[in-house]
Amino acid sequence: MNILLLGSGGREHAFAWKIVSSPNCKQLFVAPGNAGTASIAKNISISPTDFNALADFSTENQIDMIVVGPEEPLVKGVTDFFSNHPTLHSLPVIGPSQAGAQLEGSKDFSKQFMQKYDVPTAAYETFTKDTFKEGIDFIRQQSLPIVLKADGLAAGKGVLICQSFTEAEDSLKEMLLESKFGKASDKVVIEQFLKGIELSVFVATDGNHYKILPEAKDYKRIGEGDTGLNTGGMGAVSPVPFADADFIKKVEDRIVKPTIQGLKEENIPYVGFLFIGLMNDGGEPYVIEYNVRMGDPETEAVLPRINSDFVDLLHAMGTGKLDSYDLEIASYTCTTVVLVAGGYPGDYVKGKKIEGLDFPSDISDSILFHAGTKISEYGEILTNGGRVLAITGIGKDIDSALENAYSRVAEVCWDGIYYRKDIGQDVLNLIK
Ligand code: AMP
Ligand code: GLY
Repeated sequence: MNILLLGSGGREHAFAWKIVSSPNCKQLFVAPGNAGTASIAKNISISPTDFNALADFSTENQIDMIVVGPEEPLVKGVTDFFSNHPTLHSLPVIGPSQAGAQLEGSKDFSKQFMQKYDVPTAAYETFTKDTFKEGIDFIRQQSLPIVLKADGLAAGKGVLICQSFTEAEDSLKEMLLESKFGKASDKVVIEQFLKGIELSVFVATDGNHYKILPEAKDYKRIGEGDTGLNTGGMGAVSPVPFADADFIKKVEDRIVKPTIQGLKEENIPYVGFLFIGLMNDGGEPYVIEYNVRMGDPETEAVLPRINSDFVDLLHAMGTGKLDSYDLEIASYTCTTVVLVAGGYPGDYVKGKKIEGLDFPSDISDSILFHAGTKISEYGEILTNGGRVLAITGIGKDIDSALENAYSRVAEVCWDGIYYRKDIGQDVLNLIK
């Protein structure tokens, strides 16, 4: 198959790495890709949201399948664009319809959906500018901390966990009356704070059938010991030892099945990945959020554990045949460490030369994925984003996977490099 992959992060390098390893991939194009995808596929400079340009490219290059990495094109309707296209309507697009993407694109929609289909989640109410006063009254009736969420996409910054009533009231005012997150905060979900340990479960679905992929835990804060600002993700571990078969069975019965069933009942086409952000509270799963794509950097720890053919998996999703696909998961552990530019998630500089990349990226016990990187006109690899590289170590357990990841990390360098040295430590402490 000729495959077109949309996106440019570590997740997309991991997708590309897995796709090109399949004998069923003839040619892979990545729009727009990064320096890592350029080394294994052909990057094309088209934005993932320029649907007309993607359609022209697909026609000219006889693309057989499109795989969507990030949420933005999904929320903007890339899948519907192709399914309504006069000549490309039968081209499989792996990614949900715009209606399905609301599970991530609108917190209010996803909360209503969970309530309707009895999916366990935090109690909530939604407020707008017109119901601001009721929102303030509602805050006063809650216990602390209180969680405020901008309804729409806010680049990962739209969730506020408020430790006092004053903080919650001020934040509600900023969001609803002062457009703190632009249109994204025209509606605000106020919800109960969930206690417990977070983890993410990933599901592949063709709309009718599903396969549960390996779960992962990610590390969102910039600082060690989970301190400091939220980031896109500083590391990941898969599998998660406290997500035993019992727990995953609860997730499947209480969350995955009603979600897929609910989407069908709502007549919402959903072919793609569903990322379920969960809180494990004393062995009981609660949904924190849905995302309509794979996680980053979780993908870099999850995909190396899939042993069965990945292009076959995508094709089975795109053609409604997921029930006949045999998913094979490796028992080894993957740990991913994300290397970021100094200053991230605040201001940082781009264009620093990265040293230590001149050996194969994929060796038996570690894999180096590029995220924000680009190739300069002189052929050097430069930093081109906040999250720059994601290095995955593979081992028989967390200790050995971490050792393999960090020894590879030590070989890479650029001016301002930063990474957390405690990825996986909390999980190790739990099992020791
Ligand atoms: P989200 O943008 O929905 O992923 O939320 C960002 C982070 O906020 C989550 O990963 C959780 O750590 C935290 N969070 C969101 N909602 C809740 C909640 N109801 N209770 C506790 N923590 C939450
Ligand atoms: N790592 C969290 C996310 O991809 O949203």
